[in-house]
Amino acid sequence: MKRYRLSVCKGPTCKAGGADAVYATAREALTEQGQVPRCELYRGGCYGFCHMGPNVVVREETGRKRDPLSPEDYQLMGWDGEVYYSEMTPEKMRRVVAEHIAQDAPVQALFGQPDTPAPDDD
Ligand code: FES
Repeated sequence: MKRYRLSVCKGPTCKAGGADAVYATAREALTEQGQVPRCELYRGGCYGFCHMGPNVVVREETGRKRDPLSPEDYQLMGWDGEVYYSEMTPEKMRRVVAEHIAQDAPVQALFGQPDTPAPDDD
């Protein structure tokens, strides 16, 4: 059985966009769906895709040795099993827990595109 680490961005823009509610929903959904033993919940960020937030990163736990600088807490690493979800809402978070975590089925429809340029301000 796979294990995961799910990080909800704690940066200011994602917070302003509702990241705290997304985090609270993740905690609730993991408990309700009995997934707490399989998924560590964490606050990461800022990942630098603020305009795409609230951002969530899910990674498979592979027993990888932890870098003391924890670069994975504020950037995408391109690791196998790493999935970036953008524009998250509590409803989307429930779906990610129900499918990605509980069924090992990443939710492709919600995948973010980190290379999308920020919209112009003018
Ligand atoms: S505040 Fe979340 S990516 Fe920057």
